[in-house]
Amino acid sequence: MTSGLEDVVAAETVLSDVDGAAGRLTIRGHALDELAGAWRFEAVARLLLDGLVDDLPRSDDALAAALGAARREVFARCAPLLPALAALDPYDGVRAGVALLPDGDAAADALRLVAAPAVLAPALVRARRGCEAIAPDEARGHAADVVRMLRGTPDADLAAALDAYLVTVSDHGLNASTFAARVVASTRAGLASAVLAGLAALKGPLHGGAPGPVIAMLDAIAASGDARGWLEDSVARGERLMGFGHRVYRVRDPRADALKGAVRRLAAARGGGSRLALAESVERAALDVLRERKPDRALDTNVEFYTALLLEALGFPPEAFTCVFAMGRVAGWIAHAREQRATGRLIRPQSRYVGPVA
Ligand code: ACO
Repeated sequence: MTSGLEDVVAAETVLSDVDGAAGRLTIRGHALDELAGAWRFEAVARLLLDGLVDDLPRSDDALAAALGAARREVFARCAPLLPALAALDPYDGVRAGVALLPDGDAAADALRLVAAPAVLAPALVRARRGCEAIAPDEARGHAADVVRMLRGTPDADLAAALDAYLVTVSDHGLNASTFAARVVASTRAGLASAVLAGLAALKGPLHGGAPGPVIAMLDAIAASGDARGWLEDSVARGERLMGFGHRVYRVRDPRADALKGAVRRLAAARGGGSRLALAESVERAALDVLRERKPDRALDTNVEFYTALLLEALGFPPEAFTCVFAMGRVAGWIAHAREQRATGRLIRPQSRYVGPVA
């Protein structure tokens, strides 16, 4: 038995394939390189959900319109509750908001759930800043509307960067949060229950909670002026460097390059190159330190390192980064929940009893 179920195959899926040896991610037959920066989030959401959620709109444009309407509906439902939700950390506020949605299985339920983190996260970030929530504009693309709801004004460069991010994190094999969502779906609970399970599992720093601490690390290293010394001390204390290492990838996480490309495009369009240069030098130093200090492990950069830079540039505060991860991954959770449900099989493994004998 392996304590972390590593190498255990617990589902068959048509949704995505993570090739950890080659550093390749395939989403329903498409290489990540083909999708990130080229496809809109709506198109990838449809790709993932197509055939799994009955009565889903048939074209990308129709899905974008339906998703826009779902954003409006979620906003109308949640607006009266925003003051209470805003008393929580943004991620907990998003989770609480999702818990208030109906737990059905239809396309309308799926679209509300995809819409929810996109509506709640900007509203909760603004509330913490003492600003009014901005209602969704259903005519806009999903990423473009999130940028507008966060910042108050539309911004095409930032919308393109967010689209690239949401597509990049939309699905990733049987990661911890997706497995949690599939377990719940296998009990025949509704989609909201499965998404809540995914949200709960995503929160921790070993999974989707890493990018906030990446910013803290970059700031601390910038203040110290000695990247290598700071990183060596951290590893010597037994700490994990956030944004490095992965359960499946034994080479560089392909999502790191997809996101670095998006950060680079943004820096070329709007400046911000010095933050990217700092991150690149920290990345180089971290990889050197990890190769020296953990020579038996193949530790490389994971998705979270450049996620931090991208979401910072979009204007999200670090404490809301995981909310944005959930905005993208929710499409994968729902697709996996439906795929699991279609097997008709309850997930129920065994444990080996090693306690005292009665
Ligand atoms: N920094 C320092 N050491 C590390 C790191 C790291 N980032 N990652 C793994 N290690 C070390 C561990 O200390 C452990 O060493 P030990 O056996 O001497 O104690 C060993 O490498 C474990 O290696 P693996 O078996 O390859 O890692 P595991 O599968 O257990 O963990 C994980 C994977 C959780 C992602 C880990 O690499 C980590 O904690 N990274 C930092 C947090 C992070 O970036 N999380 C986001 C992951 S991506 C995502 O989920 C979206």
